[in-house]
Amino acid sequence: MADLKDRVEGLRKAFEAEALKVGDAKSLEGLRTAFLSRKKGHVTLLFEGLKSVPAEDKREAGRLVNAFKTFVQDGLQTLEGKVRTDGRPAQALDLTLPGRKRYVGAPHPLVLFQQEIENVFLGMGFTIEEGPEIETDYYNFEALNFPPHHPARDSWDTLYITDDLLLRTHTSPVQIRVMEKKKPPIRIIIPGRVFRRETPDPTHLPMFMQIEGLVVDEGITFAHLKGTLEYFIRALFGEKIKVRFRPSFFPFTEPSAEVDIECIVCGGQDKSCRVCGGTGWKEILGSGMVDPQVLKNVNIDPEKYSGWAFGLGIDRTAMFAFGITEMRHFYENDLRFLRQFGTK
Ligand code: DAH
Repeated sequence: MADLKDRVEGLRKAFEAEALKVGDAKSLEGLRTAFLSRKKGHVTLLFEGLKSVPAEDKREAGRLVNAFKTFVQDGLQTLEGKVRTDGRPAQALDLTLPGRKRYVGAPHPLVLFQQEIENVFLGMGFTIEEGPEIETDYYNFEALNFPPHHPARDSWDTLYITDDLLLRTHTSPVQIRVMEKKKPPIRIIIPGRVFRRETPDPTHLPMFMQIEGLVVDEGITFAHLKGTLEYFIRALFGEKIKVRFRPSFFPFTEPSAEVDIECIVCGGQDKSCRVCGGTGWKEILGSGMVDPQVLKNVNIDPEKYSGWAFGLGIDRTAMFAFGITEMRHFYENDLRFLRQFGTK
């Protein structure tokens, strides 16, 4: 028995040593023949040797040889998995290397911020509308009460496609498109991309995001505008944030107001603050009471209905909220930047 055990142990070591050298289908076949060939394979010879084992040792010897056969078969099977059938060396596939980490996609920071804004308005019963990015002069300007050649058009540096077609400079034209189709009560928000002829710098890009809001119904007043926008800003920036309304001008609203919020970076304490320029305030949106002429343009009776509207720069506000001083980060898609937001 001791002899047999030594022999099997020797063969096991030999098999392991040979297995390490197997690199292709051919060497694998060689190893299989050496051990399992019906004529002279080591395993076959072991089985033949069982015949001369004394009766009392037969059982144990049989178990030993059978176990060795299984060991060889398993070993060959593992090697088969490593050796590619096209004959390329097994080393090409190292099963011991750690797996590659795959990243699940994450929502873009601007999308996350847009959804945060949308959720506040959805909670107040607003619905979401969208409109085309390529617009006609009529929707982008004329119906919004910009007469042809009116100097106010110059404040929107427009990218024209033809004399009449342009890339929308704001989301306001969608107000017109919606009011043409729907009659009051209207309570909507309109997110989307807008385009302007700008040279890129840390706070300006030729393409950016806006979100527009529009409410039209009977008896709507400036108090609704103020109350709703204050509620929205508090929901986004916290209860304690200071808000101020400043008189302004837009052709499509009268009266108009721009809304500033307290600088959350310096709180008005840093005269050289890069975010608010030392003023302590940051403008985030334009708003106003829908001009009666705009309502007339869409056949809504301004004697019966009134409305208010706003337009907010998503990128600028997101920069402010996240403390980012370079707008281009949002569009360069550097994963080191993007992975700091949302799911990793
Ligand atoms: N469309 C304006 C802009 O791009 C923002 C704006 C101001 C939208 C007042 C409005 C509004 O709806 O009432 O600067």
